[in-house]
Amino acid sequence: PFEVVAKRSGRTVTVGAGETLVAALARIGIRVQVSCEQGICGTCMCDVLEGRPDHRDAFLTDEERDSNELIIACRSRALDDRLVLDV
Ligand code: FES
Repeated sequence: PFEVVAKRSGRTVTVGAGETLVAALARIGIRVQVSCEQGICGTCMCDVLEGRPDHRDAFLTDEERDSNELIIACRSRALDDRLVLDV
């Protein structure tokens, strides 16, 4: 599990081992738009303000992955205990 801070609302939620970032955000009323939900289309991409994503998508380029500035929220998780997203 890891914690996600939704910067725009100032709310925090814990993403459980069995759920996605998108699902966890939905629990606190934050809707991330999705389409494929398989890490392919990029619809659910969010800006990362703090923390390192654990990229599990097939959408971002290697450069984008290495920047730690973007995350594909339907699939990816976190390498750190906490991610801060611009959502
Ligand atoms: Fe398609 Fe997340 S919804 S990549």
